[in-house]
Amino acid sequence: MDRIDFLRSELNRHNHLYYVEAAPEIDDYKYDQLMNELMALEKANPDRFDPDSPSQRVGNDINQNFQQVYHRFPMLSLGNTYNKEEIVEFDERVRKALGHSVKYICELKYDGASISLTYEHGRLIHAVTRGDGEKGDDVTANVRTIKSVPLRLPEGNYPDLFEIRGEVLMPRAVFDKLNEEREASGEAPFANPRNAAAGSLKMQNSAQAAKRQLDCWLYFLFADQLPTNSHLQNMECCRQWGFKVPTFVAQCDSIDDILAFINHWDTERRNLPFDIDGIVIKVDSISDQRELGNTAKTPRWAIAYKFKAEQVQTKLLSVSFQVGRTGAVTPVANLEPVQLAGTVVKRATLHNADIIKQHDLHVGDTVMVEKGGEIIPKIVGVNTDLREAGARPVDFIECCPECGTPLVRNEGEAAWYCPNDAACPPQVRGRITHFVSRKAMNIDSLGEETIDQLVSAGLITNAADLYDLTVSKLLPLKKDGRVWATNIVNGIEQSKQIPFEQVLFAIGIRFVGATVAKILARQFGSIQNLMQASFDELKTTDEIGDKIAQSIVDYFAEDGNRLFVNRLVGYGLQFEATRQEAKSAKLEGLTIIASGKLEHFNRDEINRTIEAHGGKPVTSVSSKTDYLIAGENIGPNKLAKARELGIPIITEAEFMQMIADDDAPQAAETQKEKETDKPSDTKPKNDGPTQLSLF
Ligand code: IVH
Repeated sequence: MDRIDFLRSELNRHNHLYYVEAAPEIDDYKYDQLMNELMALEKANPDRFDPDSPSQRVGNDINQNFQQVYHRFPMLSLGNTYNKEEIVEFDERVRKALGHSVKYICELKYDGASISLTYEHGRLIHAVTRGDGEKGDDVTANVRTIKSVPLRLPEGNYPDLFEIRGEVLMPRAVFDKLNEEREASGEAPFANPRNAAAGSLKMQNSAQAAKRQLDCWLYFLFADQLPTNSHLQNMECCRQWGFKVPTFVAQCDSIDDILAFINHWDTERRNLPFDIDGIVIKVDSISDQRELGNTAKTPRWAIAYKFKAEQVQTKLLSVSFQVGRTGAVTPVANLEPVQLAGTVVKRATLHNADIIKQHDLHVGDTVMVEKGGEIIPKIVGVNTDLREAGARPVDFIECCPECGTPLVRNEGEAAWYCPNDAACPPQVRGRITHFVSRKAMNIDSLGEETIDQLVSAGLITNAADLYDLTVSKLLPLKKDGRVWATNIVNGIEQSKQIPFEQVLFAIGIRFVGATVAKILARQFGSIQNLMQASFDELKTTDEIGDKIAQSIVDYFAEDGNRLFVNRLVGYGLQFEATRQEAKSAKLEGLTIIASGKLEHFNRDEINRTIEAHGGKPVTSVSSKTDYLIAGENIGPNKLAKARELGIPIITEAEFMQMIADDDAPQAAETQKEKETDKPSDTKPKNDGPTQLSLF
């Protein structure tokens, strides 16, 4: 071992002692000396560069676009309850299903941003956010700056490939300091440490993320071969491998033990340096976990008990009214500022007119404010004893505060609406903002400010108008704005490739959220079919009830909406489903990974294409992978791994040949060409000329 290796290993050891074990052996001065020496030696010996060196924990200034990565195992959430009775029922359910007594592990429920870390041969290769549970953002560059996350594990008996999951947290003290700085510099403060942690993970610049002093606690191990049959013991193994595994856990053999743990932490949590929002109770035995299985979204072998939200009293100063994108009017309480669960609360949502009535709210009332899981606090009660004589009741407005149109209320609904959807400014802006948002048309060159500008300039009054925009129409809006305008027009053009389910979500039918849109796209296949569907037909679809079915029928019954959709069809947006419809079975049974930048597909598109032809897209190379599609700038590790395992490495063009339609003339030709140099199995050769050009 030379000096560089020695310093790296020493600094890793001190990092672990300081950030994981909280038991430093040396002071900061000595640590800095070692680090400075290492950095000097690395500078003098550039050939010794190592991305996993402790000197690289400071991040870099490269701007990142987060790639979406599929989770090898979906990231489930947990069933949760505020009610101890339901914990008793959970225990009964589990014991009944298993037919024997059960050992539980109780853990803290960390209130941060969940993360999944993948290690291959002891190296951190991916850190991915939860995202929608199926796929999340690859935030590896930022996670690499978290000092308690090991980049490379010392020798050990861990599996070659495993995933470890946990929570990225921002300690409360760091959060307070960060918010102070943000307020001082005129930036909006974060609502809570959870948002701050999630926001930090998504920072464009990892050198900035490194300054956020995040921490990461790990609580779950996934691998094809787990070390033991006990969750607790597996976590102990993880601790030995070098991970920060919480010690605040208890083994509980009875419901009384569980309740004692809950009660202890309900008060003790205030003494922790970070936020928790409950307790997680897990069945310890992995084989029992497997037997109990999962529902679509949550495991049956675990449950979360959530602590009741904190409440505080304050004064209601006034009520203002906000108009949303659907025209729904939301009353908002303006409060005398008060400290609650670590932040200053000045406003609280009142949801709708019924709540105002239910509490019989008067201006100047003393109200109870609660902060639950949501960011926005809510009013949960009124202390009428403290009401001043002559206090004025809060009246719900009758006309839209934005455009003056009299409000309407649909039967059976709590919300009042402004019916002027065509011209009421926040509705127009809100619908367009929704249309371009990430889960919808994903036009990120159009921010809210630009939309405001376009609406005010009279260039757009609805989302279809976007497709009439040209660079020359945009140029007068901004000095030297050619690049800006070109970006916008390109972004809009690219959105024409967005799949049907997202387009359906984008058009903004009431109650049709992203999930419902996906179901409808799958079920009806095209906008034509959906437009023609009757209320009854719609209702036969799983998960579509009266409310959604009626809203869809009402939407298409309006001429204006049909005109809008027809215009979009005319501009060439995707109004037919492709995702679920298998196009062929050419990739049946094949596990394929794409890596690097591709010419014809983004990450989502290539994965969907693989699926559409019967294949399985994955995110890391393993012995089960059949092909690696190598794009531009593919990571050297993936290539090396694929070569080591003898996995065929193919180009994007070769992949396209594999799925090409045999009936299409051009594809038939390529097929013929291929047959001349292709071995008898169906995999294309992996040592042909295209191969060589890759390296
Ligand atoms: S286990 C398959 N353990 O809570 C179950 N989750 O509400 C995997 N969380 O998405 C989760 N602390 O982000 C587990 N000790 C803990 C946890 C925990 C916090 C989060 C996690 C999950 C969410 C569910």
